[in-house]
Amino acid sequence: MSRVFGRVFSGIQPTGNLHLGNYLGAIRNWVRMQDSAECIYCVVDLHAITVAQDPKTLARGIREMTAALIASGIDPERAILFPQSQVRVHAELAWVLMCTARVGWLNRMTQFKEKSGKDREGASVGLYTYPVLQAADILAYKATHVPVGEDQKQHLELARDIAAKFNNDFGVELFPLPEPVIEGPATRVMSLRDGTAKMSKSDPSDASRINLTDDADTIAQKIKRAKSDADALPSEPAGLAGRPEAANLVGLMAALTDRSVAQVLADHGGQGFGQFKPALAEVMVAALGPITARFNALKDDSIALDSILATGAARARAIAEPVLAEVHRAVGFGDWL
Ligand code: TRP
Repeated sequence: MSRVFGRVFSGIQPTGNLHLGNYLGAIRNWVRMQDSAECIYCVVDLHAITVAQDPKTLARGIREMTAALIASGIDPERAILFPQSQVRVHAELAWVLMCTARVGWLNRMTQFKEKSGKDREGASVGLYTYPVLQAADILAYKATHVPVGEDQKQHLELARDIAAKFNNDFGVELFPLPEPVIEGPATRVMSLRDGTAKMSKSDPSDASRINLTDDADTIAQKIKRAKSDADALPSEPAGLAGRPEAANLVGLMAALTDRSVAQVLADHGGQGFGQFKPALAEVMVAALGPITARFNALKDDSIALDSILATGAARARAIAEPVLAEVHRAVGFGDWL
């Protein structure tokens, strides 16, 4: 990634294991951006508790996500990596921004509608205000670029609206308007069982996804059994129309080998899945093997992980606390403390 970014911020929930969809859709971009910008990556545990969590599982999830991010290539010496709850500015700024955001804006958020489902009255208030906390995450660092998946576009629009209204209401140029960075050929990695559904940690079928903890045999088996069709691969992308499973597998090959779909089809067009799938499994195992090995070596080293997170939180505070002080001055809280 040769583009130059200002300051990058992104967050990921510490619930569930990382899978190939997270890795190719988001984390790989996070890793690449470390070369061209100051990067701040946050394990968003405050967001996690907007739905019920078992405390012990959550505590383990925070460390495991940290280990998975480092195993994927996040370098905690260069990037700032920390848990959201350890930097109190997030919650405090969220309150101020809740007074900037409008109820009408939140009522339009599609993720709340999906997550609250039929029982909207029974959803937590935190789930409703989730996107305002997300805006606070980004704006606390005056971040300019936010690498996210497609599904977060609407939340980023909201963060921009909140930043603009805050600046306007108080006549300041405090917050830059953050831009989403949605990139990569496999931004949307689909389920291996259904090419029209997103690969997801909550799919009851483990065969639908590749976990970053799957070993080589498991990966090979899952690719072998992945849904496909009886036709040979086309030699051009147009031939994938109406073939969601074929498109997904070809897209995975493209993402894993850093080629375009057209290039993959130029090489593999005419092959049936009996030939293509083993080739795909091979590149997947080669890409994920080292990540899995690093993850397994780190995941139970809670002393090392906790020390990385504490250092990250201290570095994050050093940036966010002065921003909150500016916010206090802008709204009239004063700064005499
Ligand atoms: N809502 C994001 C997701 O579900 C996670 C997130 C929280 C985030 N805070 C953020 C992403 C700030 C980008 C920036 O994927």
